[in-house]
Amino acid sequence: MSSCTATAIIDCQALVNNFKRIKKVAPNSKILAVLKANAYGHGLERIAKTLIQKEAMADAFGVARIDEALELRAAGIVKPIVLLEGFFSTDDLPVLAVNNLQTIVHNEQQLNAILTAELDKPLKVWLKIDTGMHRLGINPEQFQYFYQSLSTSKNVQQPLVLMSHLACADEDNNALTAKQLNLFEQLTQNTYEERSMANSAAIFTMPQSQYDWIRPGLMLYGVSPLPLSSNSSACSGIEPVMTLQSSLIAVRNLIAGETVGYGGVWQSEKDTTIGVVAIGYGDGYPRHAKNGTPVLINQRRVPLVGRVSMDMITVDLGRDAQDQVGDAAILWGKQLPVEEIAEYATTIPYELLCNITRRVQVEVI
Ligand SMILES: Cc1ncc(COP(=O)(O)O)c(C=O)c1O
Repeated sequence: MSSCTATAIIDCQALVNNFKRIKKVAPNSKILAVLKANAYGHGLERIAKTLIQKEAMADAFGVARIDEALELRAAGIVKPIVLLEGFFSTDDLPVLAVNNLQTIVHNEQQLNAILTAELDKPLKVWLKIDTGMHRLGINPEQFQYFYQSLSTSKNVQQPLVLMSHLACADEDNNALTAKQLNLFEQLTQNTYEERSMANSAAIFTMPQSQYDWIRPGLMLYGVSPLPLSSNSSACSGIEPVMTLQSSLIAVRNLIAGETVGYGGVWQSEKDTTIGVVAIGYGDGYPRHAKNGTPVLINQRRVPLVGRVSMDMITVDLGRDAQDQVGDAAILWGKQLPVEEIAEYATTIPYELLCNITRRVQVEVI
């Protein structure tokens, strides 16, 4: 008898193919591959190393925390790395300079710290403008002041990159998107700086947002940022990089009227067979996945029944099931899109991918 426990199978060729597909859609833009949150749960170093190969060569990497950037440098990655939220403390500045890390500037504290620092080398800066997301970024009225200050500072490499982030790129014809794009264009059109706006959704649905740098995250991993209800075929041609798999560790008969799992919240209406799969919220499988969430076993979709436990889930295999202990169970992947599981769990695929925990084994193909 042999059963495998929760395993994330990472298909590096799929990553390469997705990268090439993105490049085809935006041939004139440089690619900053977004690797934050452990490369969306796919393994920071592994993904970075796959994206420095000749056939899929990112121009830069984007991370959220300085520790992620330093981990990449320690792994021997020499490509430009951009801190997408900038630096959080003045003490970080020499670390940025020594490690050749680029930073976003989105507030006055960061601007003043850079202008007054004593640095051995100037820093590469991405100036983030808030065009309507109202999360990070300088207000449009502050643009000239920040732009002039950074353009003339001895601590800043020229040219700058001017950037903004879209709030609703994944929604069809959202008026805020057009407003953000117009404002960004208006503010930046007479500068000689590089520009960047597009995340995954925008790269595919709004070519006018591609500019000099695109910043794909989710699509690199073969997942669509567009809602399942969207009929857009914009994201076709990408393939999931991660397959999350485990196996049946028990197959049990259940009599009609009996309940399954904590709280006895699911009761079978008929005699059936219950399969117990070795995966739970301790592995990152969403606890709020609804009854009926599909799990792929022996090429057929069977429904999740009962509550998700820390280490196990239960599925209804049906009365005459032939499935056996040790059979593989796919939670998401090529034949079962994580986008669909996210809907059953009332969340987004980003969260499911990032939530994969340390005890999940990784198999790279
Ligand atoms: C500034 C910035 N650019 C790009 C991305 C990539 O977004 P996506 O994963 O939707 O492509 C993110 C992710 O949140 C981001 O914060």
